[in-house]
Amino acid sequence: FNVPIAVNEPVKSYAPGSPEREAVLKAYKEMINTTIDVPMYINGKDVTTGNTRTMSPPHDHKHVVGTYHLAEKKHVDEAIATALEARKTWANTPWEQRAAIFLKAAELIAGPYRAKINAATMIAQSKTIHQAEIDSACELIDFLRFNVQYMTDIYHDQPESTSDAWNRLEYRPLEGFTYAVTPFNFTAIAGNLPSCMAMMGNVVVWKPSDSQIYSAKVVMDVFKEAGVPDGVINVVFGDPVMITDTVLDSPDFSGLHFTGSTFIFKELWKKIGNNIHNYKTYPKIVGETGGKDFIVAHKTANPKQVATAIVRGAFEFQGQKCSAASRAYISESIWDQVKDYVIEDVKSFKMGSPEDMSNFFTAVIHEGSFDKLAKYIDQAKADDNVEVIAGGNYDKSKGYFIEPTVLLTTDPKYTTMQEELFGPVITIYVFKDDQFSETLELVDGTSEYALTGAILAQDRYAIVEATKALQNCAGNFYINDKPTGAVVGQQPFGGARSSGTNDKAGSALNLLRWVSPRMIKETF
Ligand code: ALA
Repeated sequence: FNVPIAVNEPVKSYAPGSPEREAVLKAYKEMINTTIDVPMYINGKDVTTGNTRTMSPPHDHKHVVGTYHLAEKKHVDEAIATALEARKTWANTPWEQRAAIFLKAAELIAGPYRAKINAATMIAQSKTIHQAEIDSACELIDFLRFNVQYMTDIYHDQPESTSDAWNRLEYRPLEGFTYAVTPFNFTAIAGNLPSCMAMMGNVVVWKPSDSQIYSAKVVMDVFKEAGVPDGVINVVFGDPVMITDTVLDSPDFSGLHFTGSTFIFKELWKKIGNNIHNYKTYPKIVGETGGKDFIVAHKTANPKQVATAIVRGAFEFQGQKCSAASRAYISESIWDQVKDYVIEDVKSFKMGSPEDMSNFFTAVIHEGSFDKLAKYIDQAKADDNVEVIAGGNYDKSKGYFIEPTVLLTTDPKYTTMQEELFGPVITIYVFKDDQFSETLELVDGTSEYALTGAILAQDRYAIVEATKALQNCAGNFYINDKPTGAVVGQQPFGGARSSGTNDKAGSALNLLRWVSPRMIKETF
């Protein structure tokens, strides 16, 4: 079966003097010194309302890089109507044509759009170039390429037939329209959520996070240039409650693809439940939500490897990954060494604007996030059962900068061991070497989430024990690695409990949620 074999897009180095570094810096400079006006995109047309909000980089929040337009209810109604109209053609478009569009989108990002989409992600979400490259370039390209491959696998998974009866499964798209809600933290997710549904023949209303609109605009430009027809993906901005209520009140609503907070996802699920008698079909619901991701280090773990897992797992992209390590349990006999390495690493980080590529660390996304994190840090400073062993300072005069912060607690149920902070703060609990099994129970019972986690150990029996004891508290489980950085095509991603519906992003399991198959039996 002949589609291009999906391969992971190689991560470029951006080494000093490299052409990719020059290209992204040029794009960044041009973009940061220009202001853009971002219209909504409905039925292939730019839609402005005159009711606008400004956009600013989190690392320089007084600097305006553009405005975007806010929807009224009539615009959301129009996006729904237009999607339903486009469905008449799109749902009947041969899958090869849909595949070609998204493969072209991948190649546009890999080539002509790479510098622009990375610069947009550096500006809008304050990612360092490396974090932008692995997100808005490589991961998004990989989602598009691998999903096309998974799509073709699905279409060719057919039942047995006999000489007098031909059985065919027709993988129809959902009847109605679908709704994509995307978060600020990954440009790849912005591209993946609407494209998975559209690829399977669905039509989409898409609401990106306000903090992502600047980079989501580039994603939409790519889809447009790649040939996504008018009305297939419609983008609306503004009041999330009004937009969501309008979408979920439509009897034609048939699927929600969501990444964002646990609270909001549960609220949307409730609304869908309340409307269930009004829908023409049972809506499919897919959500990837919060995390309280852990690292457990056995006494046989390599201390340097543990420190690296903590530092990279907790602090890359300022800890704003749903997969980020935010609680760690370290065996007493290796703790002193781990601590020295962690403190040394944290001290070596440079913090500042992503434009200076020697910075490892930049700002958190917005003032709300900054204030929330500062409050947790202040509380930790005041509490007796916790100590700040690295970082702990913050400053929002220019950008929303919070130092990478390591807390050490004597209480394994301390607030920051349980609650999701979504920022650069990790809390560590040191356990006695002979309390490994009890600690695994503690890890399982401490948080409502089950997204990612890691065990570090050299002892194979410890690895086996942890893998079994922690089987329900991480959808992505890592042995001797950090708990972040899942690669499409290699580690399908998603979690259970309050972390989501676990319909692994970057897999056929996810794409299968967006079809409503018809079984056809033809006899001769
Ligand atoms: N997929 C992202 C990771 O694994 C969130 O870090």
